[in-house]
Amino acid sequence: MEFTCKEYFKVGKCEGEKLVDGETMPLVLQPPETNEKRDLESLIVGLKRNKEWFEEMIVKNSAVLLRGFNVGNAEDFNEIVETCGWEDIRYVGPAPRTHVHKRVWTANEGPLSEFIYYHHEMVLIKEFPKKVILFCEVPPPEGGQTPFVPSFRVTERMMEEFPEAVKDIEEKGLKYTFTALSNNDTSSMRGRGWEDAFGTSDRAEAERRAKALGMDMEWLPNGGVKTILGPRSLTRVFDGRKGRKMWFNTMVGMHGKELSSATMADGTEIPEKVVRRCGEIIEEESIQFKWEKGDVLFLDNLALLHGRRPSLPPRKVLVATCK
Ligand SMILES: [Fe+2]
Repeated sequence: MEFTCKEYFKVGKCEGEKLVDGETMPLVLQPPETNEKRDLESLIVGLKRNKEWFEEMIVKNSAVLLRGFNVGNAEDFNEIVETCGWEDIRYVGPAPRTHVHKRVWTANEGPLSEFIYYHHEMVLIKEFPKKVILFCEVPPPEGGQTPFVPSFRVTERMMEEFPEAVKDIEEKGLKYTFTALSNNDTSSMRGRGWEDAFGTSDRAEAERRAKALGMDMEWLPNGGVKTILGPRSLTRVFDGRKGRKMWFNTMVGMHGKELSSATMADGTEIPEKVVRRCGEIIEEESIQFKWEKGDVLFLDNLALLHGRRPSLPPRKVLVATCK
């Protein structure tokens, strides 16, 4: 597609960008030469006048990075999110997040020293966001990148290396389990209790809410609960994404962990080698850049996995998710 918005944006570059199947990821959009174009207001006008084009860019390049505009705080970021006009979608999941302003939340507040593993946002929930938008208010001094991975590349390479296993898992589907402890269990600092995760301390109500999200529950003697999901698909194809088969699952992230598991839906174990190699492929295909203050990153959640590398403090990245 022609680059048609010279009045408001010019294409830039960032260290770490990659060319994937002919498209640059991320597509960096900067203010045009003149300094007065850098202010937030002209960015908002630029987005308003080119809404459709901007959304097409996100789908085409999977990731768009707005860089060099004066985006200073959560209020500014919220204005950008609202200008884009996509409906809000509420976060459901295990990550601890805090509401900041209108549509803006903190990104995962898990310890900065931990790597948040690659995932499609809310991949296990029936309705997941199409777009994840991140804003860097305080760039980390070291580490803390938000690497992302073209999901179709993972599928392609897994089909090349493990055609049989992929076919087998694809046919049977995946089953996941996740164990949530109780808020009352002070012996563990891992993750949120099920009361927070389901927004109730009533077991029957928690079960109803879990059912609505497509999960089954088994209560544990220690007051925790084991959540079971499945069968779930290994890959998905979405409209408008060139028929690409996305690696729309969380097999590597949940397989063989202390509080989670991933098997085939009939209980068959997924070969260790397949999981390990898949993790390596995901890492090899990953793309990352160094956050700068004021960066706003738009991710096509249907096309990309994303994660967070360990970081030195301070780091403040805010998020909004959209339908
Ligand atoms: Fe995420």
